[in-house]
Amino acid sequence: SWTTGNIVEEQVEAIRAQVGSKRAICGLSGGVDSAVAAALVQRAIGDQLTCVYVDHGLMRKGETEQVEKDFVAATGVQLKVVAAEKRFLDALAGVSDPEEKRKIIGREFIRVFEQAQAELVAEAGEEGEEVAFLVQGTLYPDVVESGGGTGTANIKSHHNVGGLPEDLEFELVEPLRQLFKDEVRMVGQELGLPEEIVQRQPFPGPGLGIRIVGEVTKDRLDLLREADAIAREELTAAGLDRDIWQCPVVLLADVRSVGVQGDGRTYGHPVVLRPVSSEDAMTADWSRLPYDVLAKISTRITNEVADVNRVVLDVTSKPPGTIEWE
Ligand code: XMP
Repeated sequence: SWTTGNIVEEQVEAIRAQVGSKRAICGLSGGVDSAVAAALVQRAIGDQLTCVYVDHGLMRKGETEQVEKDFVAATGVQLKVVAAEKRFLDALAGVSDPEEKRKIIGREFIRVFEQAQAELVAEAGEEGEEVAFLVQGTLYPDVVESGGGTGTANIKSHHNVGGLPEDLEFELVEPLRQLFKDEVRMVGQELGLPEEIVQRQPFPGPGLGIRIVGEVTKDRLDLLREADAIAREELTAAGLDRDIWQCPVVLLADVRSVGVQGDGRTYGHPVVLRPVSSEDAMTADWSRLPYDVLAKISTRITNEVADVNRVVLDVTSKPPGTIEWE
């Protein structure tokens, strides 16, 4: 019968059989999936695993610090942090198409992992190994929605599934491929990960790069980071974190509207709040958040974030809308 204990045992066996005595690296995104995948692989192969955190500049406020502190504290895993903001922003310059953004981000991730792998091999003074393993926290819904499931159209290239470059030099280790999010959380609990990690709301691997409708630039990212931090702060303060699945905040960078602030006319950008409730992200409904919480978020964002003069609420379920806007 199905228990989380069985899953852990089964996957630990499978990972050992696949990786043997080789080295593996795992990209950490700050999300639940990669954290649980990493903890599971660490359980299986210990120090043969090195986690790599790519600071691509598309993270939310405080995310990097959270990975560096909480995850390492909880697992004792070996962590390598790669500063890659310029690389990602250069690659994304001038690109507005959502699928193109996803492919670029997926490709740059892999390039960074390849470089990290080469450095690890060099540091260990080993000859270049033939096989390098890359651990990914791919879940069942990611597989289905990227067109890897049975007879499903490709909805989006999740960067850890459909968005990989063709000349991939890694063999993938994907121990969560058959699981849904709630099951992943149970596995995380079983592995002893703390609540802050296990109960975290989902956050997409491509980060804020797919929450800016339009070109991704440093200024726009900074602005969105501020708006997102305010929304998260107020939702947490209102005790709503466990009631919603997640709440993307999206910057409509190519849209402007007229506003008035003080005695001046403004011509700024809107941000969209996209709070959703869901069981597994395959379908979702828009969350009926209390008006006073929405009001507080709106007032704070328009007061505190320069260039944002309007906050709008997305009241679309999935389907027809996906959770993320891109
Ligand atoms: P959509 O927008 O497809 O999102 O309804 C479903 C869930 O998946 C998350 N998401 C991603 N997660 N890599 C990820 O790790 C990705 O490329 C990606 N795209 C979307 C999204 O946040 C939601 O929870």
